[in-house]
Amino acid sequence: MKIVVIGGTGLIGSKLVKKLRDEGQEVVAAAPATGVNSITGEGLAGALKGASVSIDVTNSPSWEDTAVMKFFETSTRHQLKYGAAAGVKHHIALSVVGTDRLLESGFFRAKLAQEDLVKASSIPYSIVRATQFFEFVKSIADLSTEGNKVRLPPVLIQPMAADDVASALAGIAIGSPVNGTVEIGGPEQFRLDELVRRDLVARKDPREVISDPHARYYGIEVSERTLVPNDDARLGETRFEDWLTQSAAQIPNQGVRRVGDSS
Ligand SMILES: NC(=O)c1ccc[n+]([C@@H]2O[C@H](COP(=O)([O-])OP(=O)(O)OC[C@H]3O[C@@H](n4cnc5c(N)ncnc54)[C@H](OP(=O)(O)O)[C@@H]3O)[C@@H](O)[C@H]2O)c1
Repeated sequence: MKIVVIGGTGLIGSKLVKKLRDEGQEVVAAAPATGVNSITGEGLAGALKGASVSIDVTNSPSWEDTAVMKFFETSTRHQLKYGAAAGVKHHIALSVVGTDRLLESGFFRAKLAQEDLVKASSIPYSIVRATQFFEFVKSIADLSTEGNKVRLPPVLIQPMAADDVASALAGIAIGSPVNGTVEIGGPEQFRLDELVRRDLVARKDPREVISDPHARYYGIEVSERTLVPNDDARLGETRFEDWLTQSAAQIPNQGVRRVGDSS
C-alpha cells in the first residue's frame, strides 16, 4: 500500500514516516524539502500517483489569523483535489481536540476550516483530533510568559507524546476510513499550570508559573474541560514523567530535576 505523508519532515510526520516504513509500507515523505508544496501544488500529483492513503500532518509557518487560514484552506484544497484525481481512497487529517471550543483563536478557526473541507470532499476520510503534544508544553509556557512569570489557568489537560500520535495515525492509516472524527489523548490528566511547572523545572528553566484562573491559554479563555478529549478517546501509553526524564537527558549538560528537588 502506498501512503503519502504530507508534512512528512515535521515533528509528527517524520515519526510517522519511520513507523510506516518499519511496518513495510511504501511511504512518500512529502514536504517542500522533498519537492512537494501543498500551497503551490508543486509535486503533489507525482507524489500521490498510485497512492491509497494520504495523511495531512502539515502546519502553517505563520499562526497570524489571515495567514494561517490561507495556509490550511489552500493546502487542504490542493491535497484533496490532487488526491481525488489520483484515486486516493483514504485521506487522514491531524487536528486538535477541542478545536470547536477554541474558535476565539484564528489558528483553530483555520483548523476547523480544514476539517470542514475534508468532510465535504469526495474522498473517504478520518479526522484525528489529538490533545497537546508533550513537545508543545514548552511553547505553551513561552506563549504565556511575561518577564520571568508564566501565568496559566489551572484547567485540565491530557497531553500526549508525539510518538504516540504517530503510532495512532499509523494504525488509522492501515484501517478503513471512519468518515468521522477520532479523538486521541495521553494516559493522564494534569492541571495546565502544574504540567508547565513540571516541564520548566525538569529543564532547569528559572521561570515561575503562576496559577491564575483568569489567565488565557494561547490567548483564549478556557474552562475546566475545554482541552480534554471525550471518554471514548484512544489513549497513548507514554507517561509525561517518563518522557520528561528521557527528553531532558538528551539535552547536553542538563540533568533532570523534579518538582521538589533542591538545587
Ligand atoms: N502542537 C500540538 O500540540 C498539536 C496538537 C494536536 C494537533 N496538532 C496538529 O498537528 C499537525 C502537525 O504538527 P507538527 O508539530 O508535526 O508540525 P511541524 O513539526 O511544524 O511540521 C509541519 C510539516 O508541514 C510541512 N509543511 C509546511 N508548509 C508546507 C507546504 N507548503 N507544503 C508541504 N508541506 C509543508 C513542514 O515542512 P518544512 O519543515 O519543510 O517546513 C513540516 O514537514 C498540525 O496541523 C497541528 O495543528 C498539533
